Amino acid sequence: MQSGYENTSTESSKSSVKAEVSDYYGKTLSSSSDLKTDACCTAEALPDFAKPIVSQIHEEVLMKYYGCGIILPESIEGCRVLDLGSGSGRDCYVLSKLVGQNGHVVGVDMTDEQLAVANSHREYMREKFGFSESNVEFLKGDIEKLDELGLKEESFDSVVSNCVVNLAEDKRAVLQGAYDLLKDGGEFYFSDVYSDRRIPAELQKDPVLYGECLSGALYINDFLDMAKSVGFADPRQITGRPLEIGDKKTQEKVGSIQFYSITYRMVKAKGMEPRCEDYGQAVRYKGSIENFADYFTLDADHKFEKGRIYTVCGNTYLMLKNTRFEKHFDFWGDFKTHYGLYHDCGTSTEGAAATTASEDTSSASGGSCC
Ligand SMILES: C[S@@+](CC[C@H](N)C(=O)[O-])C[C@H]1O[C@@H](n2cnc3c(N)ncnc32)[C@H](O)[C@@H]1O
Repeated sequence: MQSGYENTSTESSKSSVKAEVSDYYGKTLSSSSDLKTDACCTAEALPDFAKPIVSQIHEEVLMKYYGCGIILPESIEGCRVLDLGSGSGRDCYVLSKLVGQNGHVVGVDMTDEQLAVANSHREYMREKFGFSESNVEFLKGDIEKLDELGLKEESFDSVVSNCVVNLAEDKRAVLQGAYDLLKDGGEFYFSDVYSDRRIPAELQKDPVLYGECLSGALYINDFLDMAKSVGFADPRQITGRPLEIGDKKTQEKVGSIQFYSITYRMVKAKGMEPRCEDYGQAVRYKGSIENFADYFTLDADHKFEKGRIYTVCGNTYLMLKNTRFEKHFDFWGDFKTHYGLYHDCGTSTEGAAATTASEDTSSASGGSCC
């Protein structure tokens, strides 16, 4: 019986899968209209504050956007952000505007054609945003080997990624690399494709299914276990939606497998625990994050209205107190007295994600237990 996700690919199969993926994004697809499914399409509407930014982005960059979600962490002015699998650079350019002249964005991709598009519009975007110097750079590299790119460990406030991790063969290496590059208090904020069961090996070998971000998808619960094993103690789902496989032939191939596009926030903060524990703590949002005057959404289960006091578990407390969000909250309590498991939480996160995602994709807890 299979007990969990294993990366069983050999070195030679690895390079051929990468070559196929790179070919798919560099040569087969010329724009998002060539996609066969909606896996690499974003169904959610852009938040209002992002619309004027996206409208400034060069058309060629937008045409080659293949993301499946919105990856715009809040309160990132002046921050360093890393985008894994940055493609033609759409998200990097939106983030470039949000981090501002004093921030920095690094995009990493392995496909020359995508990097060429991203790089060719750096100067155009610098001018559009009115920056004296470009604050974006694109590096050619393999996100499974982030330690080979010369990036300093613990130097990023946020790592983002949009519809890419599913394409990697060694997904654990990607998560570990992201974890190592994050500062304490940083977060991996990313959208990707997941499945409600493990994908059979023969489907994983289908280059179109793989390239379309389907057959490389992780079973949600294997993903959650893997994320925890590299140090992301409490992955929090922000949004989720089931994918529609429009193409009949593709639908026949995947049969009953249900795929989801899910956006997670995975905070790296010292002291986080495997479960949500109750220390009698509470927080209050000040309404001070730019573009979020009325409320701040940490995850699908934690929407903090300005001025209202919320009791929280220890992990949520740390996600706010030991991160860049600290100045935007008032805090009560400490970790001196433990009152047991946080009262609104289940004891098991495993299994909840797939069930919840299929029943209620807009507010699924996806591994967060409160
Ligand atoms: C579905 S596209 C998404 C691109 C971009 N994030 C966007 O939203 O438009 C996947 C991208 O991931 C890149 N990619 C896939 N596997 C990679 C790897 N192991 N290392 C670096 N880039 C990779 C591909 O070259 C491609 O540009």
